[in-house]
Amino acid sequence: MGYILGIESSCDETAAAVLKDGRYILSSIIGFQWDIHSKYGGIVPELACRRHIEVIYPIVNEAVEKAGIKLSELSAVAVTSGPGLIGALLVGVSFAKALSYSLNIPLISVNHLEGHLWAVNLTHRVQKPFIALVVSGGHTNLYMVKDVGDYKLLGNTLDDAAGEAFDKVSKILGLGYPGGPAIEKCAESGDADAIALPRGLLKKGGFDFSFSGMKTAVLSVIKSRYSYAHVDDISEILCGEDQLRSDIAASFQKAVIDILVLKSLSAVQKTGINRIVLSGGVACNKLLREKMKELEVKEGITVYIPEPKFCTDNAAMIAWVGYQYYKKGIFSDLKLNPDAQSSIG
Ligand code: KG4
Ligand code: ZN
Repeated sequence: MGYILGIESSCDETAAAVLKDGRYILSSIIGFQWDIHSKYGGIVPELACRRHIEVIYPIVNEAVEKAGIKLSELSAVAVTSGPGLIGALLVGVSFAKALSYSLNIPLISVNHLEGHLWAVNLTHRVQKPFIALVVSGGHTNLYMVKDVGDYKLLGNTLDDAAGEAFDKVSKILGLGYPGGPAIEKCAESGDADAIALPRGLLKKGGFDFSFSGMKTAVLSVIKSRYSYAHVDDISEILCGEDQLRSDIAASFQKAVIDILVLKSLSAVQKTGINRIVLSGGVACNKLLREKMKELEVKEGITVYIPEPKFCTDNAAMIAWVGYQYYKKGIFSDLKLNPDAQSSIG
């Protein structure tokens, strides 16, 4: 029982949320930073840290106020301590430590990936065990999840993460950052079978992923069509080539989704666990959600996907995991340091 404040600042979102009794989301505030990163085509870590410092206090305040409680009523503060950008993590962890010390409440360290794994529980009651696919800008991890804290990593990406591949291909196509929503929109008017792209590591089996070959293949497709041109700026070449750009976006999106869906299905077949949880920013993708949901009808698998606002980075998911550790009395002390590379399972 109690009010848990969650704080998330691992990448380019500054977020704070208050959860009551581990079930009721009283507030979930997210400060986005697209305005400062979009012109660089990706996240600039130093700029991300500075913005976190500027907004963390007002965002935490807003979350507490919107929850209708006072800071002194908080039972604990849960914070993302990794993985992520070290400077960005440091802002959230330092702020949470200061709150824990001044309010004399427990400090709870939460792994960002663990937050994504359980985000769906904010709105659904998921039966355990389950297969979980976390697809974000930094990770493409397939897990077998038995309980909170009991994870087995089945496979992950050997190169780019799925979201990173969306972001890179979007940059090539001149569609901007973040790439996922931009590619999804552009793909609407494209033919997903127009361009043949490799499905990395699909035939080889296993649960690892590879997306970097797909990005190279996209570049080769464009270069092969414009061999006369010196390809310094592909996006310029694509000016006036809206159909080609949409066909590439649609074909790329389909190729990534094929891999994600088939690998998840094969994890179900191998483990005999017929529940899948999909999460992370890429899980906002409508076609991916649709194709995963089709597994329910075609394969009899139960598929859980959080609402899009809980797929991307948020602090409610951190507070939810924090509450589980709060119940068990698993706390950190003020020596807690962020760990940019931390992992689970
Ligand atoms: O989970 P998230 O918010 O942050 C990380 O932990 O990385 O995920 C961000 C990633 C970005 O790479 C973004 O391009 C991708 O999620 N993304 C999408 C969509 N919306 C966000 N990818 C594909 N389709 C989308 N609609
Ligand atoms: Zn994330």
